[in-house]
Order: sequence, then structure tokens, then C-alpha cells
Amino acid sequence: MNIAVFCSGNGSNFQAIADSVRRGEIAAKIALMVCDNPKAFALARAKKLEIKSLLIERKNFKTKEEFEAGVIRNLEKESIELICLAGFMRLISPGFVQRYRNKILNIHPALLPAFKGTRSIKDALGYGVKVTGVTVHLVDEKTDHGPIILQKALEIKENDTEESLAGRIHEIEHELYPQAIKLFVEGKLNLAGRRAKIE
Ligand code: GRF
Repeated sequence: MNIAVFCSGNGSNFQAIADSVRRGEIAAKIALMVCDNPKAFALARAKKLEIKSLLIERKNFKTKEEFEAGVIRNLEKESIELICLAGFMRLISPGFVQRYRNKILNIHPALLPAFKGTRSIKDALGYGVKVTGVTVHLVDEKTDHGPIILQKALEIKENDTEESLAGRIHEIEHELYPQAIKLFVEGKLNLAGRRAKIE
């Protein structure tokens, strides 16, 4: 199975997925890393990992539709069957979701449906919850909403800062995302409405 990973920044989840593939834990190939930000460290990681990358910037297209059509052309060229959003800071349009229905995964640094959006770690800390975590879910037309594949919780400590909490969240992410991808690649996920059952 050919996988594409989408990144906009650091790419530590991309790295964790690539490492897991390299260790032979996931029987798939990362055929493409798609990046919308020329400054993203993920681009340097792809180069080092010898994974093909596509830098495609929204500003070079008139509309979002044209930008996404450009992305899709590249995914089709590589026969991509699974897309893993890993810190990709753009919302995917409904048309894109339909084209890759139930074939797009995302990782979110909170226990959905709590703390949706892009500031989840800060928001969870600020709200004062005692437990937060990580969610891997399928992407549907609504933001941070599709069926949940895996979740893992962690406790927030009294002396946690945004940085310390983010560090522990990232450690969990780097284990949970490869696990979820492995389940997908091995065809072990069965969808019953919103519920993703693991065989
Ligand atoms: C992760 O915290 C992920 O949950 C969120 O964006 C962050 C990406 O980090 N969607 P990285 O680029 O993989 O290091």
C-alpha cells in the first residue's frame, strides 16, 4: 500500500511513521510527503529519509479547489491509498474528503471531541482538565470529527507547562499514529457508523 504523509511543520510524526515503516512494523511504503510550507523541517527529514517530497504552496493557486486538484494529481500519480495528516495546517475540503473517503487519517493532540482546533494542548491546560491525551481518527467533512481509531489518555500534572505537556503528548503520538496506520494497512478496521471496530 502506498501512503502519503501531509506536513506543514516539524514533521516529528512523519519521522515516527517512517521509522516504523523502516523497522518493518507497517507493511506499506511512504511514497510521498506532501508539504505546503517551504520552511517546514519535514522537508529536511524527507530528504534524509530518502522519501519523495512534494512542496505545494496554496499561494501559487487561484483557488483552494485548484490547489487541492494539484495535490490530488500528485497522489494519483503515486497510486496513494492512504493519506496521513501529520501536523498539516490546512482544512481539507469536502470534495477532497469524498475523493479519499475513509482513507484519510489525522492525529489530534487531545481526547476528541474535547479541545478541537489548533491550540488543544494550551486549551486543555488552561481549562484545568486533569486528563488529556491523543486521538487518531478518520477525516470527514467536519473538522476534528470523523470516526475515532485509537485514543490514549495521559494525566496532567500540577506543575505541567505547555512545553512539558506537549513533550509527553508527542511521545504518545509517535507510538499511537504508527499503531493506527498498521491497523489500517492490515485491513483490521471495520466501520459501523461512527464506531471503528478493531478486528
Ligand atoms: C502534533 O501535535 C499533531 O497532533 C498535530 O500537529 C502536531 C504536529 O507535530 N496535528 P509534528 O509536525 O508531527 O512534529
